[in-house]
Amino acid sequence: MEKLIIRGGRPLSGGLAIKSAKNSVLPIIACCIMSKEDILIRNCPKITDVDNMLNIIESIGGETKWRGADIYINCRYANPRLVDANLTSGIRSSIFILGPILSRFRYAQISYPGGCDIGLRPIDLHIMGFRRLNVRVEENNGMLLCDGEGLRGGIVNLDFPSVGATENLMMAGVLAGGKTVIRNAAREPEIVDLQNFINYLGGQAHGAGTDTIVVTGTKKLSGGEYSPVCDRIVAGTYLAAAAMCTGDVTLKNVRPHTVYSVIEKLARAGCELYETHNSVRLIAKNRPKAVPKIETQPFPGFPTDMQAQITAMLSVADGSSMIVENLFENRFRYTMQLAKMGADITVKDRVVLVKGVKALRPAATTAEDLRGGAALVSAALCADGVSEILGIHHIDRGYESIESDLSRLNADIRRAR
Ligand code: EPZ
Repeated sequence: MEKLIIRGGRPLSGGLAIKSAKNSVLPIIACCIMSKEDILIRNCPKITDVDNMLNIIESIGGETKWRGADIYINCRYANPRLVDANLTSGIRSSIFILGPILSRFRYAQISYPGGCDIGLRPIDLHIMGFRRLNVRVEENNGMLLCDGEGLRGGIVNLDFPSVGATENLMMAGVLAGGKTVIRNAAREPEIVDLQNFINYLGGQAHGAGTDTIVVTGTKKLSGGEYSPVCDRIVAGTYLAAAAMCTGDVTLKNVRPHTVYSVIEKLARAGCELYETHNSVRLIAKNRPKAVPKIETQPFPGFPTDMQAQITAMLSVADGSSMIVENLFENRFRYTMQLAKMGADITVKDRVVLVKGVKALRPAATTAEDLRGGAALVSAALCADGVSEILGIHHIDRGYESIESDLSRLNADIRRAR
């Protein structure tokens, strides 16, 4: 069982270039299903969620190959009747292949993507949306059977600005007849990135970044090379770590507008922040100040994927803070691990109350989900002494060699068996 061994208590310093966003690369890989041409996706993170998605593409007859940090994909010979249920039931993001497969092949049969560590992760909005586009969807014994013979553009009003449902429905509309209008669409930067990729391949989508997206069906998609947007959550994770350890770090390839809500909270915690068009520098000279209240919201609000990391930072702040998790029902398991390190933290329903302590103490902790695990890494970097973190396969889902990244920022961290 691999673990991370961290000798904490040192400031973070130095520079690091952030790779393409996991939550952009995953739908973009799925989108390649709709093209028969060669596609190269640049500067991708070598993480297990991406590898799992590439395995799914291979399982339906697509060709994929890593070329350094770039991914080559060609789906000329993809065949949707081959989807491997063992693969798709294992990862949540497999749901993203539904839209592209329906759009190109008008038929899809996949296993119901499981829930995960942070919640049930229902897909009712995806299914409602497909039905609005005249797709017949049947759910039986864990399988989703979709007959898209009648697929055509339509108007979908999402009850909630779901990221995945927005992306799935955008892709369903790309090769469908007519116009697909998605109202109350998610506005995340990864949605804009997917739109840019669709249009780069010859599709016709516009409005991403606002609450209404319109996709006009087209005949086919071409190929080419594309560089997705940087990973704003990886960037936010490292900025929050520097804020709690003190230091001076510069992250490159980061578009500040994608992390504004995080930068604003770090500034309120007393950090100095300097931005250029593609970098963010954080200087933290002292212990962070408390931030009275943070609520997770859909973009451009404070991201749920940063909830654990900012709570870890606030666990050593000078004062008390309250964090409200509005998106997922089970995203606080890391707090018990932080408590083992001396954090003064209580959870009630979807609210975390954290009373900052002067210092955390090193401990052996266990990651139980992706972002909670990243929060434990930050806490260990801040605690003076040697900590160990188990369950790091969760962290490897979303961070490519987190120990290499943090070592570049002066952290004393290594992976051991
Ligand atoms: C995406 O998940 C991200 N994953 C998540 O990142 C992120 O936390 C989430 O968006 C919110 O920003 C990827 O992009 C691969 P949602 P997604 O649909 O699309 C409810 C990470 O750590 N909902 O926006 O699954 C749902 O239960 C991961 O990188 C329905 O009720 O999120 C949740 O409460 C974790 N019915 C809320 O909407 C549906 O059909 C937001 O979910 C779909 C969603």
